[in-house]
Amino acid sequence: MEEVSYGALRVRRLHPAIAGEMHGVDFSEPLEPATVTAIKQAWADHLVLVFPDQPISDQQHVAVTRYFGEPEVFHQDRIKSKFVREIFRVANTDEDGNIMPPSNPVQQQLSSARKWHTDSSYREKPAIGSLLHGVEISRTGGITCFTNMYDVYEALPARLKSQVDGRKARHDFDMLSRLTGAPKPTAAERAAMPAVWQPLVRRHPVTGRKSLYISPIYNDAIEGMADNDAVALIAELAEFAGQPQFVYEHTWSPDDIVMWDNRCTMHYVTPHDPAERRVMHRTTIAGDAVVEAA
Ligand code: SIN
Repeated sequence: MEEVSYGALRVRRLHPAIAGEMHGVDFSEPLEPATVTAIKQAWADHLVLVFPDQPISDQQHVAVTRYFGEPEVFHQDRIKSKFVREIFRVANTDEDGNIMPPSNPVQQQLSSARKWHTDSSYREKPAIGSLLHGVEISRTGGITCFTNMYDVYEALPARLKSQVDGRKARHDFDMLSRLTGAPKPTAAERAAMPAVWQPLVRRHPVTGRKSLYISPIYNDAIEGMADNDAVALIAELAEFAGQPQFVYEHTWSPDDIVMWDNRCTMHYVTPHDPAERRVMHRTTIAGDAVVEAA
Protein backbone atom coordinates (compact mmCIF):
# COMPACT_ATOMS: atom_id res chain seq x y z
CA MET A 1 0.00 0.00 0.00
CA GLU A 2 0.89 3.68 -0.44
CA GLU A 3 3.74 5.31 1.58
CA VAL A 4 3.65 8.91 2.80
CA SER A 5 6.65 10.93 4.05
CA TYR A 6 6.54 13.20 7.09
CA GLY A 7 9.93 14.92 6.97
CA ALA A 8 12.46 12.14 7.50
CA LEU A 9 9.78 9.67 8.67
CA ARG A 10 7.74 7.32 6.50
CA VAL A 11 4.26 5.94 7.00
CA ARG A 12 2.99 2.87 5.17
CA ARG A 13 -0.80 2.84 4.96
CA LEU A 14 -2.24 -0.34 6.51
CA HIS A 15 -5.90 -0.05 5.45
CA PRO A 16 -7.66 2.33 3.02
CA ALA A 17 -9.64 3.99 5.85
CA ILE A 18 -7.41 3.89 8.92
CA ALA A 19 -3.94 3.12 10.33
CA GLY A 20 -0.36 3.52 9.18
CA GLU A 21 2.95 1.96 10.14
CA MET A 22 5.57 4.57 10.97
CA HIS A 23 9.28 3.99 10.40
CA GLY A 24 12.31 6.00 11.45
CA VAL A 25 11.32 6.55 15.12
CA ASP A 26 13.24 5.22 18.14
CA PHE A 27 11.23 5.55 21.37
CA SER A 28 14.22 4.54 23.51
CA GLU A 29 15.81 7.93 22.78
CA PRO A 30 14.50 11.45 23.49
CA LEU A 31 12.47 12.67 20.50
CA GLU A 32 13.45 15.75 18.44
CA PRO A 33 10.71 18.44 18.19
CA ALA A 34 10.52 17.80 14.41
CA THR A 35 9.86 14.10 15.08
CA VAL A 36 7.05 14.92 17.52
CA THR A 37 5.50 17.31 14.97
CA ALA A 38 5.72 14.65 12.26
CA ILE A 39 4.11 12.01 14.50
CA LYS A 40 1.26 14.39 15.42
CA GLN A 41 0.60 15.15 11.73
CA ALA A 42 0.74 11.48 10.74
CA TRP A 43 -1.53 10.62 13.68
CA ALA A 44 -4.12 13.20 12.61
CA ASP A 45 -4.03 11.75 9.07
CA HIS A 46 -4.08 8.02 9.97
CA LEU A 47 -5.87 7.97 13.41
CA VAL A 48 -3.89 4.87 14.41
CA LEU A 49 -0.09 4.57 14.14
CA VAL A 50 1.91 1.39 14.53
CA PHE A 51 5.56 1.74 15.59
CA PRO A 52 7.25 -1.64 15.07
CA ASP A 53 10.15 -2.97 17.12
CA GLN A 54 10.20 -0.62 20.14
CA PRO A 55 11.57 -2.68 23.08
CA ILE A 56 11.15 0.07 25.69
CA SER A 57 10.76 0.03 29.46
CA ASP A 58 7.57 1.19 31.18
CA GLN A 59 9.37 4.38 32.24
CA GLN A 60 10.32 5.08 28.61
CA HIS A 61 6.73 4.34 27.58
CA VAL A 62 5.47 6.98 30.03
CA ALA A 63 8.15 9.44 28.85
CA VAL A 64 7.07 8.98 25.20
CA THR A 65 3.42 9.54 26.21
CA ARG A 66 4.34 12.90 27.76
CA TYR A 67 5.26 14.28 24.30
CA PHE A 68 1.53 14.07 23.51
CA GLY A 69 -0.07 15.03 26.84
CA GLU A 70 -0.38 14.10 30.50
CA PRO A 71 -0.56 10.33 31.18
CA GLU A 72 -3.80 9.34 32.92
CA VAL A 73 -3.65 7.37 36.17
CA PHE A 74 -6.46 4.79 36.34
CA HIS A 75 -8.84 5.57 39.20
CA GLN A 76 -9.01 1.97 40.52
CA ASP A 77 -6.10 0.18 42.17
CA ARG A 78 -6.63 -3.05 40.26
CA ILE A 79 -5.34 -3.22 36.67
CA LYS A 80 -2.82 -0.38 36.98
CA SER A 81 0.81 -1.37 37.57
CA LYS A 82 2.11 -1.43 41.16
CA PHE A 83 5.49 -0.24 39.88
CA VAL A 84 4.67 2.48 37.31
CA ARG A 85 1.28 3.93 38.19
CA GLU A 86 0.61 5.39 34.71
CA ILE A 87 0.73 1.88 33.18
CA PHE A 88 -2.66 0.20 32.71
CA ARG A 89 -2.03 -3.55 32.38
CA VAL A 90 -4.18 -5.26 29.76
CA ALA A 91 -2.74 -8.60 30.78
CA ASN A 92 -3.82 -12.08 31.87
CA THR A 93 -0.85 -12.37 34.23
CA ASP A 94 -0.29 -10.62 37.53
CA GLU A 95 2.92 -8.70 38.16
CA ASP A 96 4.52 -11.82 39.65
CA GLY A 97 4.00 -13.51 36.26
CA ASN A 98 1.15 -15.86 37.30
CA ILE A 99 -1.67 -16.44 34.84
CA MET A 100 -5.04 -15.23 36.14
CA PRO A 101 -8.08 -17.41 35.25
CA PRO A 102 -11.02 -15.79 33.41
CA SER A 103 -12.98 -15.88 36.73
CA ASN A 104 -10.47 -13.46 38.34
CA PRO A 105 -12.20 -10.05 38.87
CA VAL A 106 -9.43 -8.26 36.92
CA GLN A 107 -9.96 -10.60 33.97
CA GLN A 108 -13.73 -10.17 34.24
CA GLN A 109 -13.33 -6.41 34.03
CA LEU A 110 -10.81 -6.62 31.16
CA SER A 111 -13.16 -8.88 29.20
CA SER A 112 -15.12 -5.69 28.38
CA ALA A 113 -12.28 -4.79 25.98
CA ARG A 114 -13.63 -7.50 23.67
CA LYS A 115 -16.46 -5.15 22.71
CA TRP A 116 -16.18 -1.85 20.81
CA HIS A 117 -15.25 1.09 23.04
CA THR A 118 -13.17 4.22 23.27
CA ASP A 119 -11.00 4.72 26.35
CA SER A 120 -12.15 6.75 29.38
CA SER A 121 -15.25 8.11 27.65
CA TYR A 122 -16.86 8.02 31.15
CA ARG A 123 -14.68 10.96 32.19
CA GLU A 124 -15.94 14.51 31.82
CA LYS A 125 -12.78 15.18 29.79
CA PRO A 126 -12.26 11.85 27.99
CA ALA A 127 -8.85 10.55 26.99
CA ILE A 128 -7.15 12.03 23.94
CA GLY A 129 -5.34 8.86 22.89
CA SER A 130 -3.66 5.66 24.06
CA LEU A 131 -0.33 3.95 23.44
CA LEU A 132 -0.34 0.15 23.78
CA HIS A 133 2.91 -1.84 24.01
CA GLY A 134 2.88 -5.51 23.04
CA VAL A 135 5.09 -6.92 25.81
CA GLU A 136 3.99 -10.57 25.44
CA ILE A 137 1.75 -11.03 22.44
CA SER A 138 -0.79 -13.73 21.64
CA ARG A 139 -0.61 -16.20 18.74
CA THR A 140 -4.13 -17.59 19.35
CA GLY A 141 -6.07 -14.30 19.08
CA GLY A 142 -5.59 -10.95 20.77
CA ILE A 143 -5.95 -9.04 17.50
CA THR A 144 -6.83 -5.40 18.14
CA CYS A 145 -9.39 -3.90 15.76
CA PHE A 146 -9.83 -0.16 15.14
CA THR A 147 -12.65 1.67 13.34
CA ASN A 148 -12.67 5.14 11.77
CA MET A 149 -15.57 7.03 13.38
CA TYR A 150 -15.31 10.01 10.98
CA ASP A 151 -16.08 7.69 8.06
CA VAL A 152 -18.71 5.88 10.10
CA TYR A 153 -20.56 9.14 10.81
CA GLU A 154 -20.38 10.24 7.15
CA ALA A 155 -21.70 6.88 5.96
CA LEU A 156 -24.60 6.62 8.45
CA PRO A 157 -27.95 6.17 6.73
CA ALA A 158 -30.31 9.17 7.20
CA ARG A 159 -32.49 7.13 9.62
CA LEU A 160 -29.56 6.64 12.02
CA LYS A 161 -28.10 10.13 11.49
CA SER A 162 -31.40 11.71 12.51
CA GLN A 163 -31.33 9.69 15.76
CA VAL A 164 -27.83 10.82 16.78
CA ASP A 165 -27.63 14.42 15.53
CA GLY A 166 -27.99 16.91 18.39
CA ARG A 167 -28.38 14.17 21.04
CA LYS A 168 -26.30 13.06 24.02
CA ALA A 169 -25.54 9.58 25.36
CA ARG A 170 -24.69 8.68 28.95
CA HIS A 171 -21.30 7.06 29.65
CA ASP A 172 -21.12 5.26 32.99
CA PHE A 173 -18.06 3.37 34.28
CA ASP A 174 -20.40 1.33 36.48
CA MET A 175 -21.79 -0.30 33.32
CA LEU A 176 -18.67 -2.54 33.21
CA SER A 177 -19.73 -4.47 36.29
CA ARG A 178 -23.24 -4.93 34.86
CA LEU A 179 -21.75 -6.13 31.57
CA THR A 180 -19.00 -8.44 32.83
CA GLY A 181 -19.93 -9.52 36.36
CA ALA A 182 -16.81 -7.75 37.70
CA PRO A 183 -17.18 -6.34 41.25
CA LYS A 184 -19.13 -3.10 41.40
CA PRO A 185 -17.05 0.05 41.94
CA THR A 186 -16.78 1.02 45.61
CA ALA A 187 -18.69 4.08 46.84
CA ALA A 188 -15.45 6.09 46.68
CA GLU A 189 -14.69 4.93 43.11
CA ARG A 190 -18.25 5.72 42.09
CA ALA A 191 -18.05 9.19 43.63
CA ALA A 192 -14.77 9.78 41.77
CA MET A 193 -16.32 8.77 38.45
CA PRO A 194 -19.98 9.83 38.20
CA ALA A 195 -21.77 9.10 34.89
CA VAL A 196 -21.42 11.83 32.24
CA TRP A 197 -23.44 12.86 29.20
CA GLN A 198 -21.46 13.22 25.95
CA PRO A 199 -22.62 14.38 22.51
CA LEU A 200 -23.25 11.52 20.07
CA VAL A 201 -21.63 13.60 17.32
CA ARG A 202 -18.41 15.39 18.19
CA ARG A 203 -15.97 17.76 16.50
CA HIS A 204 -12.28 16.85 16.63
CA PRO A 205 -10.28 19.67 18.26
CA VAL A 206 -7.32 19.22 15.87
CA THR A 207 -8.84 18.22 12.52
CA GLY A 208 -12.23 19.97 12.94
CA ARG A 209 -13.92 16.85 11.50
CA LYS A 210 -17.21 15.38 12.78
CA SER A 211 -17.38 11.83 14.08
CA LEU A 212 -19.84 9.52 15.78
CA TYR A 213 -19.01 9.29 19.50
CA ILE A 214 -20.21 6.13 21.20
CA SER A 215 -18.53 3.74 23.62
CA PRO A 216 -20.88 0.75 23.85
CA ILE A 217 -19.35 -0.77 27.00
CA TYR A 218 -20.19 2.41 28.92
CA ASN A 219 -23.37 3.70 27.18
CA ASP A 220 -26.57 2.91 29.03
CA ALA A 221 -28.86 5.80 28.08
CA ILE A 222 -29.61 8.37 25.37
CA GLU A 223 -31.46 11.64 25.93
CA GLY A 224 -35.14 11.46 25.08
CA MET A 225 -35.22 7.66 24.65
CA ALA A 226 -36.29 4.73 26.78
CA ASP A 227 -33.16 2.95 28.08
CA ASN A 228 -33.82 -0.31 26.22
CA ASP A 229 -34.27 1.62 22.92
CA ALA A 230 -31.05 3.52 23.67
CA VAL A 231 -29.06 0.32 24.25
CA ALA A 232 -30.54 -1.18 21.05
CA LEU A 233 -29.57 1.94 19.07
CA ILE A 234 -26.01 1.88 20.45
CA ALA A 235 -25.75 -1.80 19.46
CA GLU A 236 -26.98 -1.00 15.94
CA LEU A 237 -24.47 1.86 15.62
CA ALA A 238 -21.65 -0.38 16.85
CA GLU A 239 -22.55 -3.05 14.32
CA PHE A 240 -22.55 -0.43 11.56
CA ALA A 241 -19.15 0.87 12.75
CA GLY A 242 -17.69 -2.63 12.65
CA GLN A 243 -18.04 -3.08 8.88
CA PRO A 244 -14.77 -4.05 7.16
CA GLN A 245 -14.50 -0.86 5.08
CA PHE A 246 -13.97 1.11 8.33
CA VAL A 247 -11.84 -1.40 10.29
CA TYR A 248 -8.12 -2.19 10.54
CA GLU A 249 -7.23 -5.42 12.40
CA HIS A 250 -3.81 -5.31 14.03
CA THR A 251 -2.00 -8.64 14.43
CA TRP A 252 0.73 -7.94 16.96
CA SER A 253 4.46 -8.52 16.74
CA PRO A 254 6.52 -8.35 19.95
CA ASP A 255 7.34 -4.76 20.97
CA ASP A 256 4.93 -3.06 18.61
CA ILE A 257 3.64 0.19 20.04
CA VAL A 258 0.22 1.16 18.70
CA MET A 259 -1.01 4.70 19.29
CA TRP A 260 -4.66 5.53 18.63
CA ASP A 261 -6.83 8.62 18.80
CA ASN A 262 -9.77 8.07 21.16
CA ARG A 263 -11.53 11.15 19.76
CA CYS A 264 -12.31 9.62 16.36
CA THR A 265 -11.86 5.82 16.69
CA MET A 266 -13.19 2.84 18.63
CA HIS A 267 -11.35 -0.42 19.24
CA TYR A 268 -11.78 -3.92 20.65
CA VAL A 269 -9.60 -6.99 21.03
CA THR A 270 -10.46 -10.51 19.83
CA PRO A 271 -10.41 -13.34 22.44
CA HIS A 272 -7.37 -15.57 22.85
CA ASP A 273 -6.64 -18.86 24.63
CA PRO A 274 -6.80 -17.93 28.35
CA ALA A 275 -3.95 -20.39 29.04
CA GLU A 276 -1.66 -18.37 26.76
CA ARG A 277 0.08 -15.36 28.31
CA ARG A 278 -0.79 -11.98 26.83
CA VAL A 279 0.77 -8.91 28.45
CA MET A 280 0.04 -5.50 27.00
CA HIS A 281 0.98 -2.25 28.73
CA ARG A 282 -1.08 0.83 27.97
CA THR A 283 -0.65 4.48 28.71
CA THR A 284 -3.60 6.76 28.20
CA ILE A 285 -3.23 10.42 27.24
CA ALA A 286 -5.55 12.28 29.63
CA GLY A 287 -8.22 14.56 28.21
CA ASP A 288 -7.63 18.30 28.57
CA ALA A 289 -11.03 19.56 27.36
CA VAL A 290 -14.68 18.67 27.40
CA VAL A 291 -16.06 17.14 24.19
CA GLU A 292 -17.24 19.67 21.59
CA ALA A 293 -20.65 18.80 20.15
CA ALA A 294 -20.99 18.99 16.36
C1 SIN B 1 -7.70 -1.80 25.17
O1 SIN B 1 -8.89 -1.99 24.95
O2 SIN B 1 -7.28 -0.74 25.61
C2 SIN B 1 -6.71 -2.90 24.92
C3 SIN B 1 -6.85 -3.56 23.61
C4 SIN B 1 -5.97 -4.78 23.53
O3 SIN B 1 -5.75 -5.44 24.55
O4 SIN B 1 -5.49 -5.09 22.44
